[in-house]
Formats: sequence, structure tokens, C-alpha cells
Amino acid sequence: MSSLRVGVIGCGSIAIKRHLPEYLANPRATLAAVCDSVPGRAEQAARDFGAPLAFADYRDVLARADVDAVSVCLPNHLHAQVALAAFAAGKHVLCEKPMAASVAQARAMVDAAEAAGRVLMVGHNQRFMRVHQVAKQLVHSGQLGAVLRFATTFAHGGPEGWSIDGADSWFFRRQEAVFGALGDLGVHKADLLRWLLEDEVASVAAVTTTIEKHGDVEDNAVCLVRMTSGALGTIAASWTQHGGEDNSTHLYCEHGVVHIGSDPGYPLVVRREDGSVERRSLEAMSTNDHQAASGVIDEFVDAVLSGREPAVNGRAGAAALAVIAAAAESSRTGRTVVPEPL
Ligand SMILES: NC(=O)c1ccc[n+]([C@@H]2O[C@H](COP(=O)([O-])OP(=O)(O)OC[C@H]3O[C@@H](n4cnc5c(N)ncnc54)[C@H](O)[C@@H]3O)[C@@H](O)[C@H]2O)c1
Repeated sequence: MSSLRVGVIGCGSIAIKRHLPEYLANPRATLAAVCDSVPGRAEQAARDFGAPLAFADYRDVLARADVDAVSVCLPNHLHAQVALAAFAAGKHVLCEKPMAASVAQARAMVDAAEAAGRVLMVGHNQRFMRVHQVAKQLVHSGQLGAVLRFATTFAHGGPEGWSIDGADSWFFRRQEAVFGALGDLGVHKADLLRWLLEDEVASVAAVTTTIEKHGDVEDNAVCLVRMTSGALGTIAASWTQHGGEDNSTHLYCEHGVVHIGSDPGYPLVVRREDGSVERRSLEAMSTNDHQAASGVIDEFVDAVLSGREPAVNGRAGAAALAVIAAAAESSRTGRTVVPEPL
């Protein structure tokens, strides 16, 4: 296979801002079909991005022999159902995050991909940001010693400023979203931490709450996370940050501190114990308002065409999901929770 023929299922914001333009820009991918259940949306996306086929029902995309792979850009409760049907139809799957509604569903997706011999990748784009890649190299160079503590935040004004359906979005309905800010934002940071620290989350104690938004999901979550290395830190996810986006991570190490995404001029700042400060002017981090290419789509296309594991495989997606599921359970029960094993 020299070119990957792709169907994009769900033509809302993430499809329009990242999947569709990035497939279009990838010389080794062809947009074969698009799908959305709201009349006119798929047709509009087909016109805007040059897809020859537009459908309202995802099963029509999966039935096409000229579609090799699909992007699942749907509300969270549909991810597992559509991904499982896609594997049954022999397609490769790039699934948006959070990967599924439960760890059991995520496990079933991993098993189905393996049984079908198809690629499953999850859209955790934080790993592809240059600043996170440079920070990871620094942490694992040993210069700063072990990471002892961390604080990571993902916060903005809420999905009403993002979703194609604005304030009426599925993001605010638990039946469709399953999680609120935890599933929208916290899960990204769960994946980032596991990858950045090359460590697993050992336990989570969390409080989630709804302070401002309508709907029945949390608009804020603060999670106290212990890693298996012993490092202790927090993941904060919020939809009530009015005035810019916060996508920062701070790593407090034995011999210095790494600040990511907190100085607008310098995405990476390193303060060493000898008093020196290094400010790295790497490319700015992508935000909801200023989208940069995610790298996710190129990675998926390359993984499928070269027959290798993608950078964010199904197990990684499931592990990040297990962390936010543990946080949700902790908030419900008032107990510290160990993430479900895969
Ligand atoms: N990786 C990231 O950084 C990132 C960012 C935002 C959203 N996401 C994820 O992407 C997914 C989609 O989010 P979004 O922001 O695009 O939402 P959105 O509300 O903008 O769009 C969702 C689209 O799905 C369509 N849809 C709903 N049910 C359907 C069905 N049964 N068949 C076909 N189409 C259907 C809707 O009509 C809508 O157009 C979510 O899982 C979300 O968490 C990922």
C-alpha cells in the first residue's frame, strides 16, 4: 500500500481543525470519505477538503472497500462501538481521546485491533509538541536528577468555545461525554505524564466538581497523583479558566526545575540548583485558538503504511483512560484509587 485511503467519521471541530487538513496535507494519504449524522456537515467537509464521498451513517464508510483506515472524531460514548465495527470491517483506526467510556471497552478495542492485525492509535497530541519532546530528552539525560514532584494543568474557558455545537454540545452531557474536563483535558495530561516520566501512575486521589457550567459533567478536577517511582504531583483540568489557555507542566527535580508552557516568550525554562536559568525559545505550544499541526495524523499514516506500532498505541490510550477513570472513582468514593490494570 503506497497511499492510505481514509474515512473521517464525525465532521466537528477536531476533524475540521486537525484530521481533515492534516490528511489533506499528507502526500501519502487520500481522503476517501467523510461522515456526520447532522445533515449537511459531511457534505460541507467533503467540499472543503476534497473528499469524493459523504455519508450520514458510519456503517456506510466501513462498508467501502476503498477505505483502508478511519479517524473516529465522534462524541466519546461512540468511540468503542465505531472502532470495534471498524476492526470487524478490516480498517485501521485513529481514535480520538478519551479512547472509550471505560477501561473494559478500551481493552476490547486493543484486543480487536490485535485480532484483526490492524493499527489502533489514540489522538494524544501532547507527546508530539516539540517542547514536550525537548523536555523529555532533558529529564532523561540525567542532568537534573530524578523528578520528585510535578504539577500539570490543562485549562481553558470550556468546550462551548470549541465544539461545533457550541453551548448545546454533547461535551456537557454525561451520557455522551462520560467525563467532563477530566475526559476533555485531564486525560491528555495523564498520557503526557506517563510518557514524559516513563513511569506508571500508582494511585490517584481526586476531587471533581461542577462550579459554573450547565450540564451534568464536572467542569473542574484536581487529581493528586503518585507515580510508581514515588514522585508525587497534581493534574488539574478546568473549563473555567477565563483569559487564555493554561497547558503548563512543572517538574521539580533533584537538581533543578523544568517549567513548560508557563512563560509566553519561552515555552521551556530550566532553573538549575546553581542559580542558572536557561530559556528556550522553541515553537509556541498549540492552543484551541492557535492550532499548529498535531503530528498525530502523520504518525498514524506512517505507522499503518510501514506496518509498525504507532507512537500512541491502544494500550497507552487505555492506560491514560484508566487514570481519569480512577480520578472519577476517587471523587465519587472519597478514597485513593489504583488505576485499573489493562
Ligand atoms: N486530541 C485533541 O486535542 C482533541 C481536541 C478536541 C476534541 N477531541 C476529541 O474529539 C472527539 C470529537 O470532538 P469534537 O471537538 O470534534 O466535537 P464536536 O462537537 O465539535 O463534533 C462532533 C461531531 O460528531 C458528529 N456526530 C455525533 N454523533 C454522530 C454519529 N452517530 N455519526 C456521525 N457523526 C456524529 C456531530 O454531528 C459533530 O459534528 C471527542 O472525543 C473529543 O474528546 C480531541
